[in-house]
Amino acid sequence: MADMEGNIDARNYGIGIAAKQDVFNMKGSANAGWGVKYRLSRIFDRESGNTVMLAFDHGYIMGPTSGLERIDLTINPLLEYADCIMCTRGALRSTIPPMACKPLALRFSAGTTVLTSLNDECLLSIEEAIRLDACAIAPMVAVGGEFEAVTIKNLAACADFTARYSIPTLGVTAVGRELVRDARYLGLAARVCAENGANFVKTYYCDEGFEKVVAACPVPIVIAGGKKLPESEALELAYKAVQSGARGVDMGRNIFQAENPAAMIQAVRAVVHKFAKPSEAFELYKDLCAD
Ligand code: 5RP
Repeated sequence: MADMEGNIDARNYGIGIAAKQDVFNMKGSANAGWGVKYRLSRIFDRESGNTVMLAFDHGYIMGPTSGLERIDLTINPLLEYADCIMCTRGALRSTIPPMACKPLALRFSAGTTVLTSLNDECLLSIEEAIRLDACAIAPMVAVGGEFEAVTIKNLAACADFTARYSIPTLGVTAVGRELVRDARYLGLAARVCAENGANFVKTYYCDEGFEKVVAACPVPIVIAGGKKLPESEALELAYKAVQSGARGVDMGRNIFQAENPAAMIQAVRAVVHKFAKPSEAFELYKDLCAD
């Protein structure tokens, strides 16, 4: 117990000064609980309001994807540049050093692979997300796909976990082979995720009407990079998405399959956090490569 004698009298009450209240202004989360806001604040940068998430969960459906054959060699050197990592528990436990202290968006659904039909998935246990101190749980949501109902039920269950344990839900919109990635579809898929309780949504960019996808989604959107593009085009994609209102990227192949992944993630950061133009970011990429 603290000493009772000789203590300095409390006198700094700030009488007349209104209590300081920092406002949490992430889209759609004003009414969330403290724990949800805390975890989202670890993912999204306070200054830019945006995030560079590094996605390397591809192996859970694709096996040893190009660039991810040896996560220890290709991903670990990039960790310092990522605001958040998105991966499976297997990759995390086997390869990611806990000392990196990176906020984690845990791939939270699992099931079929590319060898059968995708998206017939169940959820991990919430205890696993708690054990791994996840900042978000990320289920796949296959709107319009064969397993639409299964995956939307998974998302709803995640939102219930969010309500109970304050671990935010990231709805990951899957794009099936048969579905078109236009604003109509992406807008529907993102909105379905938000309406079913996602705190933020990962989807794809489309050239026409992406600002409508963002506008009609009441929570932040981060974009996946999709298939590998030339570096300059991937930077342009990120730029256009952020200019249209996306709050950042959850990018995989266009980073870890780049000619120089460390330079690429830094160039993506310049676009997402410093609002660098694609040409400026590409110059940065080339400079870093030259170094
Ligand atoms: C797979 C995913 C991937 O994490 C996602 O597609 C991001 O990676 P990429 O930028 O390579 O598209 O959610 O289900």
